[in-house]
Parts: sequence; structure tokens; C-alpha cells
Amino acid sequence: MSTRDTDPTPPRLISGHPQPEDHGADPGLRPQTLDDFIGQKLARENLRVFVQAARARGEAMDHVLLHGPPGLGKTTLAQIVSRELGVGFRATSGPMIAKAGDLAAILTNLEARDVLFIDEIHRLNPAIEEVLYPAMEDFQLDLIIGEGPAARSVRIDLKPFTLVGATTRSGLLTTPLRDRFGIPVRLNFYDPEDLEAIVRRGAGKLGMPLTADGAGEIARRARGTPRVAGRLLRRVRDFAAVAGHARVDRAATDAALRRLEVDARGLDAMDRRYLHCIVTHHGGGPVGVETIAAALSEERDTLEDVIEPFLIQQGLIQRTPRGRLVTASGWRHLGLTPPRKDDHQPDLLGGTTGEDLS
Ligand SMILES: Nc1ncnc2c1ncn2[C@@H]1O[C@H](COP(=O)(O)OP(=O)(O)OP(=O)(O)O)[C@@H](O)[C@H]1O
Ligand SMILES: [Mg+2]
Repeated sequence: MSTRDTDPTPPRLISGHPQPEDHGADPGLRPQTLDDFIGQKLARENLRVFVQAARARGEAMDHVLLHGPPGLGKTTLAQIVSRELGVGFRATSGPMIAKAGDLAAILTNLEARDVLFIDEIHRLNPAIEEVLYPAMEDFQLDLIIGEGPAARSVRIDLKPFTLVGATTRSGLLTTPLRDRFGIPVRLNFYDPEDLEAIVRRGAGKLGMPLTADGAGEIARRARGTPRVAGRLLRRVRDFAAVAGHARVDRAATDAALRRLEVDARGLDAMDRRYLHCIVTHHGGGPVGVETIAAALSEERDTLEDVIEPFLIQQGLIQRTPRGRLVTASGWRHLGLTPPRKDDHQPDLLGGTTGEDLS
């Protein structure tokens, strides 16, 4: 069992996972329509077509599976889809549905064409997944009522609805469940231009005098993640307000983010400790993840789910069959000279293990 629920690590400013302070933070920042939603062009334009087609036919839209790393806009897109369809929105999450009866209650209360959003759908209990299959496919519920010899099965017709499932770990979804989504949508890390546009829009909504290069600076450090961008923006606003800056420019932004220990590429102190550990104690690797976890007093899960994906995506480390390896750009990021390839790091070109990082 993961101990993540009791993880003592303090919340990281640059984590894509939601944190208590994000909750309800400036709800005006959440885009409300597809036109408002910046970035993810392919996903956005495809959804626009499916929404229009469903509206024109007056039918429920096909089920949608949104998958991608935390904080990229899955919940936001689900809400937008229901708004654009002009239907009701009902939200729950995989771990919240404890019994088949809970799911039945939710499904039977839906109005025709409503959107039912199930967050963290990979955490649905398998018995409940079974109930979901006929509901998704034929809009029918097969429930067993009673127990033992007196048990009987009843079939209930449901109004057609759209299930929008969201997951950060699509690899954990069972095939039958995944196959029942007609519209799979993958969200990717945002490119810097889109993120800059998101930051500028956010600053506008907050009435914050942020210059274009200030916005660029926040965007570059936000790990391709709108949730992180929003959080950095709010912290920069705090520093600027206290310092009494009339304009928040690049220098003011840089100063604030330095104080927060978020470096030029969006790495925080924890990321740098991770890299330093491999470089100083293990010559840059390869070194097993358990060893790093022990050295840093972190859970292996935390390293694999929270720290490594971004470092890999940035090309600062690699996962090799023999362990973790800091790449040449990882060394350079720490201000160090990478060792020559021939006397060190034979695995540098050995590729990754192809582990599922989704
Ligand atoms: N395209 C976007 N433009 C502007 N803001 C965005 C965009 N996408 C997401 N956001 C903002 O980023 C934050 C996180 O978005 P959201 O809650 O939809 O992420 P998520 O993918 O559901 O994350 P999780 O996996 O943790 O559930 C929200 O505050 C939202 O307003
Ligand atoms: Mg979400």
C-alpha cells in the first residue's frame, strides 16, 4: 500500500497536484468556454466538433476519456463540455463511489444528455466498473437486489448521458473500460507560448500589472502546467504587492521566484536535491531508485510519480535498465561539467526502459 496519504513531504509550489490553497482560488481563472480555453488545440478542436454534432442531433455526446498529467485542465474541460452542450454537470470520483448502489443512485438521477464526470476513474473498484459497462453501452443498469437464494436481478433503463472520465494514469485503466470511451482525449504539457497566454489572461483577471516579459518568465518556470502557472502567478503577485511594485516586470518576477527557490527551468529545491544526490554520490548514475529514495528519505512512489516525470520530460535524467542517470544537460543545469561519455556513463545512449509515465 502506498503511504502517500501520510507523506510528510510539504506541498511543493511547483507540483501539478492540487493543493488546499488552490481550492477555490480565484475561480474566475478557470476558463468557461472552449474559446476561452487556451492551448491543447487538437483536443479542443476535436471536442468542439463532437459537441456541435451532438447538439445538432439532440443526442447525448459519446463518452469522453481525458487523460494526462495533473493540472493540465481535465476537470476544466469536462465542465466546459457540459456547458457547451447546454446540459447538467454532475461530478464524482473513482474513490468516492464505494458501493454499486452509490453509482446507481447517481446514474438514475441524471437528466437526459447530462454529463457525469468521474475523476480518477482508474481508482474505481472493479465491482463497480462492472455496473458501469452496461450503463455506458446500453444505458441500462443491472442490479442485484437482495442476497442469497432470494436475490434477483433487476434491469433499470437510464436516460442517455455522457460519461466524462479523467485519469492521470491511463495505463491503470482496464481494457474493457477504456474501450467504452468513444472519444479518448490526451492532454499534453503546454508549450511556453500557450502558457504565457494563460499567465497573461490570469494576470488580467487578477488586475495585476504584469509585463509581457514578466509573464514569459512565469510561463517558462511553470512546468508546462496551468495549475503551476496560476500558483506561481499568485505568489509573484504577493511579493510584488508587498514590495509595492507598480509594474511587475521580468526582474520583479525573477526576484520573487528566486525567493521561492524555483529556478529558471521550473525546478525546485527538491528536484535539485535529487539531481545532486545522483551526481555527487553516484558519479551521475546509473543508480537504482531505491538507493536514491533512501538517500533522500523519500518514498519511491514520490520520486517516480512526482519528481521524475518532469526531469525526464526535460531531458535532465533518464530511466535506464540499470537505474537513473543524470544526462549531460542535467549536469550543466547544476552548473557542473558532465563527464566524458567514453570514460563514464556507458548507458547514456542506452535509452529508457519504456516505463509508462502517464
Ligand atoms: N487551458 C487553460 N487555460 C487557462 N487555465 C487553465 C487551462 N487549463 C487548466 N487551467 C487552470 O489550471 C488549473 C487546473 O486545471 P484542472 O483542475 O482542470 O486540472 P486537472 O487536469 O483536472 O488536474 P487533476 O489531474 O489534478 O485533476 C485550474 O485552476 C484551471 O483554471
Ligand atoms: Mg481535476
